[in-house]
Amino acid sequence: MSTQRRAVRRPWVIATLALIALVIAAVVAIVAHRPDIALPPTLAQRQPDAARGAYVAVLGDCAFCHTKGGGQPFAGGLKLSTPIGAVYSSNITPDPETGIGNYSLEDFVRVMRFGVRPDGARLYPAMPYTAYARATDQDLQDLLAYLQSRVAPVHEASRTTDIPWPLNLRWPLALWNAEFHDPSRFKTDTSKDDQWNRGAYLVEGLAHCGTCHTPRGLFFEEKDVRGVTNLYLSGTKLDGGSPINLRGNEGDGLGRWSAGAIASLLQSGRNEQSAVTGSMADVVRHSTQYMTEHDVAAIAAYLKSLSPAPGERARFAANDTTTRTVMAGTERSPGGRIYMDSCAACHRLSGGGESLTFPTLAGNSTVLNSDPSSLVAVILNGARIPATDATPTGLAMPGFGWRYDDIDIAALATFIRTSWGNDATPVSARQVSQLRHELSLSRADR
Ligand code: HEC
Ligand code: HEC
Ligand code: HEC
Repeated sequence: MSTQRRAVRRPWVIATLALIALVIAAVVAIVAHRPDIALPPTLAQRQPDAARGAYVAVLGDCAFCHTKGGGQPFAGGLKLSTPIGAVYSSNITPDPETGIGNYSLEDFVRVMRFGVRPDGARLYPAMPYTAYARATDQDLQDLLAYLQSRVAPVHEASRTTDIPWPLNLRWPLALWNAEFHDPSRFKTDTSKDDQWNRGAYLVEGLAHCGTCHTPRGLFFEEKDVRGVTNLYLSGTKLDGGSPINLRGNEGDGLGRWSAGAIASLLQSGRNEQSAVTGSMADVVRHSTQYMTEHDVAAIAAYLKSLSPAPGERARFAANDTTTRTVMAGTERSPGGRIYMDSCAACHRLSGGGESLTFPTLAGNSTVLNSDPSSLVAVILNGARIPATDATPTGLAMPGFGWRYDDIDIAALATFIRTSWGNDATPVSARQVSQLRHELSLSRADR
């Protein structure tokens, strides 16, 4: 009896051990694998263009992330929070020891497309190689020429992460990449025109809009990096803000925006209805305002082609009920009273604001966003429209976090989200308190 049972069990033991060995071998193979970058031989004959590379750096917003407050340009050290601890950007000046002075073109392309450093270590996807992978070989070649020949070398070692052991081990990132990272170059869609393709190339690739605007999954992976589903750019929540839905929804998306309105927002931080706030203000300040008119128009045309995102979302159908009750003095809700006291002077009783000066709150995408974090953050801390070459004066809105408690601010935000035809979900005092906490943390970081 017992020998018989052992005989039955043994093949299972052997099979299990073999399976474990196979899994270990597969993991070792994935981790040890150095991605083959397969550069076309013609690239070596091409003369890199550093001036063009300077513009590629603008498209990719490299300087913003690779320069810490008060630091030397591109010397790194900017702190970026991730769910497991802070990561610091690297020194990418041409210093041979601490920067990228010794990088070959192959080394650079491997980092930008696969997130693998010359020493074989994997980068955290806090560096948007997940998007930069789409860039053309020529753009990367020019970008490297710019960084190596036009940027001043700074001798300053890159900071190690604050991520605790064992999460700070970099090899498991190889498994993350194997599962989630698509390193392939941008594919032109021949059914679309050149402008659309240029826009898609920038949005998916160098301009990495999806790293903030696309919702993420359990492992912090973007749910779509290729724009094949309608989750792509459908809006999400970041620390201290909520990048809006950039798809064609009429309420919370860009459905009611003209291509021209998108383009002026990217170039000047504002348009007839809206103004950028939070981390979008940094994007405009350091990157999109310097893009050519041609590129900004291409991005706008591409965004306008996106179908609506799925799910129950906020709606907007202009009506003047709220305006009439506040004007008649019969508005009794606590949120409405605060609005009249503190907001209406600039944003008007009609919520209509003042063109190019005070944003319109009626039908505003930031106000209607499923996640109200950006709206609440503006009320708590105020905001300043970035001064751009197009509009040199940066208008500001004062913060009200010191003046009102969480219950007041929740009532106010709810009032704005449900007035003048806005139809979005209410905001709770808990959401406000949570956001105050997040914002105080990110402020302490600076
Ligand atoms: C959103 C912020 C962000 C942006 C934008 C960004 N980087 Fe990075 N980059 C990082 C972080 C963070 C690291 C370090 C990641 C780590 O330690 O795993 C990094 C690392 C790198 C490295 C690796 C250097 C080394 O050897 O350690 C290179 C090269 C690099 N970035 C180049 C660029 C270029 C070129 C651009 C613009 C096209 C760019 N980065 C834009 C955040 C950013
Ligand atoms: C670093 C994160 C980040 C990146 C990268 C980013 N955005 Fe945003 N974006 C935000 C946040 C946060 C908001 C919400 C605040 C706001 O509405 O101004 C936003 C809002 C917007 C808005 C609405 C602005 C308004 O006032 O209603 C547009 C349009 C937009 N982004 C387009 C883009 C495009 C196009 C790109 C790529 C070129 C991009 N964003 C890249 C964070 C980002
Ligand atoms: C002194 C004039 C002023 C007052 C008072 C004021 N705001 Fe603003 N508000 C502005 C300006 C200017 C901006 C644009 C700032 C920016 O986008 O960086 C703005 C932006 C906003 C935005 C973001 C709009 C967008 O397009 O993303 C919201 C939401 C907002 N204000 C709500 C309020 C609320 C609620 C109050 C009352 C508690 C208020 N404001 C009081 C001037 C004001």
